[in-house]
Amino acid sequence: MKLPFIPEDAPFTGDQKSWLAGFLAGMQSAKAMVGSQAGALLKSGAVSAPILNVFYGTQTGNAEALAMDAATVARGQGFAPVVQGLDDVSIEEFSAMERVIIAIATYGEGEMPDNTQLFWEALSASNMPQLPAMQFGILALGDTGYDEFCQAGKLLDVRLEQLGAQRLVDRIDCDVDYEDMAEEWINRVIPLANDGSAVTPKADTIPAVVKSIWNRKNPFPSTVTINSLLSGKTSAKEIRHYEFDLADSGLSYETGDALNVMPINNATLVSVLLQRLIIAPDFVPEGQIKTIDELLTYSYEISTPSREFLAAIERQAEDDFFSHVMSGGDKEALANYLWGKDTLDLLNLNSSIIFSPEEFLALLKPLQHRAYSISSSPKQHPGSVHLTVASVRWQADGREHQGVCSTFLADRIIDGGKVGLFVSPNKAFRIPDNDDAPMIMVGPGTGIAPFRAFLEERQVLNAKGQNWLFFGDQTRAADFIYEEQLQKMKDSGLLTRLDLAFSRDQKEKIYVQTKMHEQGADIYEWLEQGAYFYVCGDATRMAKDVDQALCDLISEHGDLTSDKAGEYVNNLKREKRYLRDVY
Ligand SMILES: Cc1cc2nc3c(=O)[nH]c(=O)nc-3n(C[C@H](O)[C@H](O)[C@H](O)COP(=O)(O)OP(=O)(O)OC[C@H]3O[C@@H](n4cnc5c(N)ncnc54)[C@H](O)[C@@H]3O)c2cc1C
Ligand SMILES: NC(=O)c1ccc[n+]([C@@H]2O[C@H](COP(=O)([O-])OP(=O)(O)OC[C@H]3O[C@@H](n4cnc5c(N)ncnc54)[C@H](OP(=O)(O)O)[C@@H]3O)[C@@H](O)[C@H]2O)c1
Ligand SMILES: Cc1cc2nc3c(=O)[nH]c(=O)nc-3n(C[C@H](O)[C@H](O)[C@H](O)COP(=O)(O)O)c2cc1C
Repeated sequence: MKLPFIPEDAPFTGDQKSWLAGFLAGMQSAKAMVGSQAGALLKSGAVSAPILNVFYGTQTGNAEALAMDAATVARGQGFAPVVQGLDDVSIEEFSAMERVIIAIATYGEGEMPDNTQLFWEALSASNMPQLPAMQFGILALGDTGYDEFCQAGKLLDVRLEQLGAQRLVDRIDCDVDYEDMAEEWINRVIPLANDGSAVTPKADTIPAVVKSIWNRKNPFPSTVTINSLLSGKTSAKEIRHYEFDLADSGLSYETGDALNVMPINNATLVSVLLQRLIIAPDFVPEGQIKTIDELLTYSYEISTPSREFLAAIERQAEDDFFSHVMSGGDKEALANYLWGKDTLDLLNLNSSIIFSPEEFLALLKPLQHRAYSISSSPKQHPGSVHLTVASVRWQADGREHQGVCSTFLADRIIDGGKVGLFVSPNKAFRIPDNDDAPMIMVGPGTGIAPFRAFLEERQVLNAKGQNWLFFGDQTRAADFIYEEQLQKMKDSGLLTRLDLAFSRDQKEKIYVQTKMHEQGADIYEWLEQGAYFYVCGDATRMAKDVDQALCDLISEHGDLTSDKAGEYVNNLKREKRYLRDVY
């Protein structure tokens, strides 16, 4: 089990810090002693500041970063914050805690993030003890574009209430532009956790926290140095390799992190939309200082329709079928109807649909960055960061439809043009600390991105651990991206095994999990030898099937019932040897 994180700048001396870390780690095995022991410890004066437990449930690192922010604020107010992932605490330890702040993201379709699933299972069990002594606050992260907005945070909030814990403050549900709301909430909740025992330290005794200056509000303007097509001419796809110059920006990253790209909309689409709505491009809407052309180009999502936009269209469209799927309550039917339709398609449902510029803007969401798994190792490519991106394009209603960001990268960065970038650290998705540990990586399609980085990293480190990659896509001839580099890695022995699944090269579909089944005995043996199992790529279909295949092969080759195989997989998760970066 991972040691709790006691921040570098915690208000302890070095000795106190290592002692406290040891003490807390000891408590993890001693179970259920946390509250009383920590209380005694505090009363004895050995540690002057009261403990505040700050947890995060995260998939891609946002909630973890907010937990760190909360810890910084708590420290400034005289608490001794202890930051942990929700997979780093046993339910007995959790039950004994008194002051708890949780930052939690939602994943899948209203699901818990990977690092929260086992904790949630335990917390929702019928024999879970009551928590009358606990005070808690929940900061939920989500995206209103999903049906089940902030569902994980909502579930946790209700469950803690059912268990008798007291809210310090109401839960906050944050959308994609969460920074300001989250900061305000953190600043509100921490003082409420203070029962008088936390004494604000002198300002000059609080060490400054160093944060990257590059973030969503201030992305680093980087130059694209390489934009090359990886897919072959006959491919049904367009997967591209990008390299960005980091110059002396100070923007740093680690393998496993995601790079966020701030896109700019397609000028042609902006122009067609304005024509359709009969709005002059240089019109400045009420309350704005920029022209509508600029606003639609740089500031609003103009492709994927928002819920508010859909509802407004439904009111005007007089389209029986659309009204039926909108009001019928069948989410799948609505998703199927909307699949591939953008804002313009919906406006065109009926030529009489019209909005004023102000009404139209009010129905759009702010333009958001897109995340991409970094495909380079900074050790192998100092000063540069690489991405592997599938350009999203499809034909419908006689015109090409485009994904905003992937085609911005592919088509709309004119020579020397800059791209706004910032990094989302993903500390949970890293190569093993132990260079000798074997790695099994499953990454079809663009899912290969972080594994190219992992392999490059191990190459530089001269790590001796064995590496096994499962890769695939539609055809070998056109979709075997990074073939030359992977082949070299294979020849040099860095890549111990490479299993390929090209789905459309034969009558029957062959997927990565087909190959996993074929190699089940060896995968099981690798796992028994301490291998880490990584998955990256499509979340909705591939990652679920790979998870099932993993359980199946463990059951077969470990000679275990499916329940026991499930427990084996849960142990991999607890040991942080089953890690996923899926989207
Ligand atoms: C942590 C993380 C890591 C990621 N890593 C990568 C990566 O390494 N490489 C990568 O390529 N992507 C990656 N993605 C996905 C990426 O963030 C974007 O979602 C993707 O590039 C599409 O963005 P876009 O702006 O081009 O498309 P958007 O404008 O966001 O449009 C996407 C929408 O277009 C519609 N659509 C897409 N395809 C079709 C189709 N064929 N027919 C009809 N409609 C369609 C769907 O409604 C879809 O939701 C990652 C995502 C996350 C969260
Ligand atoms: N939600 C969707 O319906 C959908 C569809 C496509 C892509 N995407 C998204 O598009 C982005 C890029 O995708 P990509 O081009 O990198 O890869 P991809 O579409 O995931 O395709 C990579 C390979 O995976 C195969 N595949 C399809 N279903 C699978 C399954 N259930 N299990 C295992 N393998 C499966 C594909 O085969 P075949 O194509 O021959 O079946 C292909 O050979 C990702 O964000 C992905 O999530 C989503
Ligand atoms: C594949 C995927 C699925 C998601 N599903 C949901 C969802 O069902 N509901 C929701 O509110 N947000 C959803 N989100 C949005 C995340 O919760 C949000 O981006 C959050 O900031 C991520 O935080 P993290 O970096 O801590 O994981 C999803 C995001 C991704 C990439």
